[in-house]
Amino acid sequence: VTTTTRALTVTEAASRRRSIWAYAPDLVPRADIEAILAVTALAPSAFNLQPWRFVIVQDARLKQALAEAAHGQRQILGAPAVIVLYTDMRDALANADAIVHPSLPEDRRAGALRSIERFFAGKGDDEREDWGAQQGYIALGYLLLAAAEHGYQTSPMLGFDADRVKAALDLPSHVPVAALVSIGRGVEDGRPHHRLPLERLARFV
Ligand SMILES: Cc1cc2nc3c(=O)[nH]c(=O)nc-3n(C[C@H](O)[C@H](O)[C@H](O)COP(=O)(O)O)c2cc1C
Repeated sequence: VTTTTRALTVTEAASRRRSIWAYAPDLVPRADIEAILAVTALAPSAFNLQPWRFVIVQDARLKQALAEAAHGQRQILGAPAVIVLYTDMRDALANADAIVHPSLPEDRRAGALRSIERFFAGKGDDEREDWGAQQGYIALGYLLLAAAEHGYQTSPMLGFDADRVKAALDLPSHVPVAALVSIGRGVEDGRPHHRLPLERLARFV
């Protein structure tokens, strides 16, 4: 496992990042998690709504509850911290005023808020929350790269029972949980990347 003091380029972070299931027990300092989340929070989102929210779980009993909710996946109890990434559109829309760019003059500010209102007017709660969850995965990508840049290893997970995760952390029942991410100093190298060739993914027209 490689750690570094020089900031990695995006290419380096993406190349070195791998899913890691085994970690050293050392706690992740809060300042490091805050630095990683500060980069994560730079992720773009439609309307700039930023519906992502994070719970950083370090408490042993709560980690145990998360592990049980996630079919006993060993990277949860094995990691010093788990970041729970969820999205909350009810909160985001109730506070949309906070996300309109401060440089907008008053009339355009009101216009921006009206566009958001119009866009979501015909959508029910579930559809809004599904839309928010999609934004959440943009943040997940940033989070994984930011952790790599800071010399941490991670493992993103979707294999969990969201209702049990929400119950353990007192999260509101309407929120989608985008991912659990174990984070710490890895003690294994992970699998080398195995990716489809570009010609299978992209078409230039
Ligand atoms: C959204 C998401 C959910 C995932 N869920 C799980 C999971 O529940 N358990 C697991 O062991 N790996 C999980 N993975 C890890 C993937 O299997 C892994 O990222 C993929 O095989 C590529 O390997 P790499 O991360 O080492 O590059 C998940 C990855 C992502 C992005």
